[in-house]
Amino acid sequence: MTNEELARRLDTSDEWIRTRTGISRRHVVNPGVSTSELAVRAGQRALRSSGRPDADALVLATTTPDRPCPATAPEVASRLGLTGIAAFDVAAVCTGFVYALAAGTGLISSGIARRVLVIGADAFTTILDPQDRTTTAIFGDGAGAVVLRAGAPQEPGAIGPFDLGSDGDLADLVAVAAGGSRQRSSKGPTAEADHYFRMDGKAVFRQAVLRMAESSQRVLEQSGWRIEDVDRFVAHQANARILASVAARLELDERRLVRNIDRVGNTAAGSVPLALADAVADGFIRPGHRVLLSAFGGGLTWGSTVLQWPDCAPVY
Ligand code: COA
Repeated sequence: MTNEELARRLDTSDEWIRTRTGISRRHVVNPGVSTSELAVRAGQRALRSSGRPDADALVLATTTPDRPCPATAPEVASRLGLTGIAAFDVAAVCTGFVYALAAGTGLISSGIARRVLVIGADAFTTILDPQDRTTTAIFGDGAGAVVLRAGAPQEPGAIGPFDLGSDGDLADLVAVAAGGSRQRSSKGPTAEADHYFRMDGKAVFRQAVLRMAESSQRVLEQSGWRIEDVDRFVAHQANARILASVAARLELDERRLVRNIDRVGNTAAGSVPLALADAVADGFIRPGHRVLLSAFGGGLTWGSTVLQWPDCAPVY
C-alpha cells in the first residue's frame, strides 16, 4: 500500500509520511490472512536456503499471534512438515526477532537442539486502528526467518554475544489494552478502540534512539569490536530518522546502515530479518562482513548481537 493510497482515505500525505518517517509503501495482508501464513512462507524459504528441510526447534517471534491461545509456533512447525519438534512463541514486539535469536542460540549452546528455525513474523496491520493516521502510516506486515545450526565459535556465522534488556515501567508507551487477562477479569465492557494498538510516538522515538544506541555499545564492548569494525548495521526499521539518530549517536558512518524501511515500513518482529535478507540479496551485506544487529520495541524491550556474515544467500 503506497502513501498515496493511504492519503486517499486519511488526512495525511505522501510528503508528510516520507519526510517524517522515510516510508513510501508498506505491505498489508489480505482479509483472512494471519501471521502463521507469513511465518510459514518465510520458514519454507529459510529452510530451502539452508539446504535442508529439517530443524529440531522452531522459535517464532510475533506480536500478532493467530490467536491468544495456543501459541502460533506449533501450527507453523506442522505446516512446515516439522510436527513433533519443540516450538514456541516469543513476544517482545519489535525486539522479538533478536530475543528469538538469543533463545535459539541458547537452545543450541545448551545442547538441547542442533538446528533451530527462528522466524520473525507480524501481521501488524491487523491490530491497527484504520482511522489512526500515525500508526497506519508506519506499520506494515512482513516476515523473515533464519536457520541456526550448531558449529564452532570461530566459524563465520557464529552469533553472539547478546545484549538484551527491558523496562516494564514504560510498558504503556506502546500497547493494545484489551484481549489479555487484565481486561478479561475486569467487569466493564471493552471499548472497540481498546483492541487497537496505541503508541506515544514522540516518547517511543526518544527511547528507540537511546536504547538501540546503548545496547549496541554494550554488545560491541562485549565482543571486543570498535564501531569502525562494523561493516553493516542492521537496526530495527522503525523510522528513517530513528536510524539516522542511532548511527549519529554511535558515530557510525551512515553508509553502513541497512535501510529497507522505504518499501516495507515497520514490520515489527519481521523487521530485522527482512532488512537482513534484503541487504544480502542486494549485495550490500557480503560474506565476511562484520554485522551488528539491534532492535527496540514495546515492553519496553531492546536487544543487540553481532556476527560475521557467512557464505549464504536468502531465498525469496
Ligand atoms: N500525516 C500527517 N500528519 C500526521 C501524521 C500523518 N500520518 N501522523 C501524525 N501527524 C501529525 C500529528 O497529529 C501532529 O499534529 P499536531 O501538531 O496538529 O498535533 C503532527 O503531525 C506532529 O506530530 P508528532 O508526533 O510531533 O510528529 P513526529 O515528528 O514525532 O512523528 C512519528 C510522529 C510517529 C512518525 C514519530 O514520533 C515516530 O516515528 N515515533 C516512533 C514510532 C515507532 O517507531 N514505533 C514503533 C516502536 S518500535
